[in-house]
Amino acid sequence: MGVLPVEERRVLTAKLDEMRRKALEDPESFWDEHARALEWYKIWDKVLDDGEKPFYRWFVGGRINASYNALDRHVKTWRKNKVALIWEGEDGSVKKYSYRDLYVEVNRVAALLKNFGVKKGDRVALYLPMIPELPIFMLAAARIGAPFTVIFSGFSSDSLAKRLNDSGAKLLVTADGFWRRGRVVRLKDIADKSLEQALSVESVLVVRHAGVDVAMQEGRDYWYHEALEGIGRNTYVEPERLDSNHPLFILYTSGTTGTPKGIYHSTGGYLVWVYWTLKWAFNPNDEDIWWCTADIGWITGHSYVVFGPLLHGLTTLMYEGAPDYPAPDRWWSIIERHGVTVFYTSPTAIRMFMRYGSHWVEKHDLSSLRILGSVGEPINPEAWEWYFKVVGKGRCPIIDTWWQTETGGFMISPAAGIELVPLKPGSATLPLPGVDADVVDDNGNPAKPGVQGYLVIKRPWPGMLLGVWGDPERYVKTYWGRFDGYYFPGDYAMKDEDGYFWILGRADEVLKVAAHRIGTMELESALVEHPAVSEAAVVGKPDPVKGEVPVAFVVLKEGFSPSVKLEEELSNHVAEVIGPIARPAAIIFVKKLPKTRSGKIMRRVLKALVRGEASLGDLSTIEDPSAVDEVKAALRIA
Ligand code: WT7
Repeated sequence: MGVLPVEERRVLTAKLDEMRRKALEDPESFWDEHARALEWYKIWDKVLDDGEKPFYRWFVGGRINASYNALDRHVKTWRKNKVALIWEGEDGSVKKYSYRDLYVEVNRVAALLKNFGVKKGDRVALYLPMIPELPIFMLAAARIGAPFTVIFSGFSSDSLAKRLNDSGAKLLVTADGFWRRGRVVRLKDIADKSLEQALSVESVLVVRHAGVDVAMQEGRDYWYHEALEGIGRNTYVEPERLDSNHPLFILYTSGTTGTPKGIYHSTGGYLVWVYWTLKWAFNPNDEDIWWCTADIGWITGHSYVVFGPLLHGLTTLMYEGAPDYPAPDRWWSIIERHGVTVFYTSPTAIRMFMRYGSHWVEKHDLSSLRILGSVGEPINPEAWEWYFKVVGKGRCPIIDTWWQTETGGFMISPAAGIELVPLKPGSATLPLPGVDADVVDDNGNPAKPGVQGYLVIKRPWPGMLLGVWGDPERYVKTYWGRFDGYYFPGDYAMKDEDGYFWILGRADEVLKVAAHRIGTMELESALVEHPAVSEAAVVGKPDPVKGEVPVAFVVLKEGFSPSVKLEEELSNHVAEVIGPIARPAAIIFVKKLPKTRSGKIMRRVLKALVRGEASLGDLSTIEDPSAVDEVKAALRIA
């Protein structure tokens, strides 16, 4: 396998081409057939309802439950005693849950949620680290039809509060703390701070994990293990027979404004999409030990740590801690000790391990691996080659999957489960069946091969988002407003002569920092909240490991002057307001920002300057050209 000559493509892809053709020619019967891979209480009346574009609805009238499909279905078979989840803590402790074990815990927790007054439709917020209780709560909430919202444990109390308020969560589940590089992150303390501003939350369940003391507010906070005590192991909670378009979860992601958007997904369409995309891209089997390294706080973890692998009855692995702790071979040691066969991670992680050196990989026997995956940002050919040769020993194809929080699952990706096309390092290859992707120019006309344009998806697909929580207009405007009738993901792309897609980065004010999505506007609003800051502009600067990093240009208010101390203070301020992942790589103080005569900050000029680009583009509208000289001078010393 691996890199095959491109000339062989036509022969090899007959089957893939055929499937893509079928899915696009007659989507209704294609999906009518494929959706039956899952167990439904009631079959849909209509495969796709497009009566209220762009609010497309899939499998309308169908009834289904995610928890039932992930657990009950397997518990009825020999998989009952198969390991469903392997968990490894940063301290080295390991826990294994069979499908039956998970089923028992999920039923107990579903009963617990009901005891806490959670009803179908109520939102449950999960601010939890990478511990087994996180998937358990997700599945329990899904069982009773309570949409859950997972908030990444690296987010700050402000970020948490915003998400609690926007989702109107009734219950918050958190932990005392978790381990990161040998130290405890005190999660409950952060949650407490956010609860001062989050008025919808009635109760808080606290998982004891790190064993640190926490404050418990009488009548509001409850220890999870105590609350669970009276709920026996035989507890059975009947799964809710949910409408296919009942929201399974809300997941917040960054956009081009200061406020994150709550992307929410359906139950039926989402599950069908996650099931088939995983099957097509990775072709899993019952012997697989599946390890997707993403934190469950992101969509990758939702779809391919929890739902995808469990729908397929696979063994999925979760690791709590830092990738290079206590040494840079922690991940390779996990692969060796647990016999991981499918390994799915981000280019950022690969580039970090590349820096540590191949010898850390070579210390371990990685012969169990059969297939590798990449996600989150474009993978540069150098990292691709290293991943392919050093980690995969030239034996394992690299499945580069392009998709987003909004798409629910893979969209453009090699399809090892149909017919593996020759791979080209850096290209996610071709759209999966049912994905009508193209590259268009500014006016929405197809771009010529080899020419950069905008990636668009020309028709709905089952895994698509239902909308933006509480803001239908933002959904319409953001995704369907740029090109008439097309879904616009916000990425630049290029199609080559073979029809392969090359994703070329974001076309909007969104950064991909270490594969995490951060809006420059979020950073700017965090900065201007600080009393010393008058104006701020944030742009992405290429970074050899993280892909890109945020660089902030800051104009101070009267009475404040630039200093190393203030720079540190502002950097800490951003980390506190958003979370450590948003910390700017550099803060550059300037007296003025380049602006147009109508007062708009010229971010493209700043971007060109931090990238060291020779041309700054059209400067005819600039109000004061000396602003450019000042930035240039500042960059030289920075
Ligand atoms: C954005 C979505 C998809 C789960 C993780 C990120 C970028 C994602 C790739 C890839 C090039 C990629 C795009 C996309 N992206 N995968 N294989 N090649 N770029 O989800 O946080 O919603 O971010 O990540 O820019 O739009 P997300």
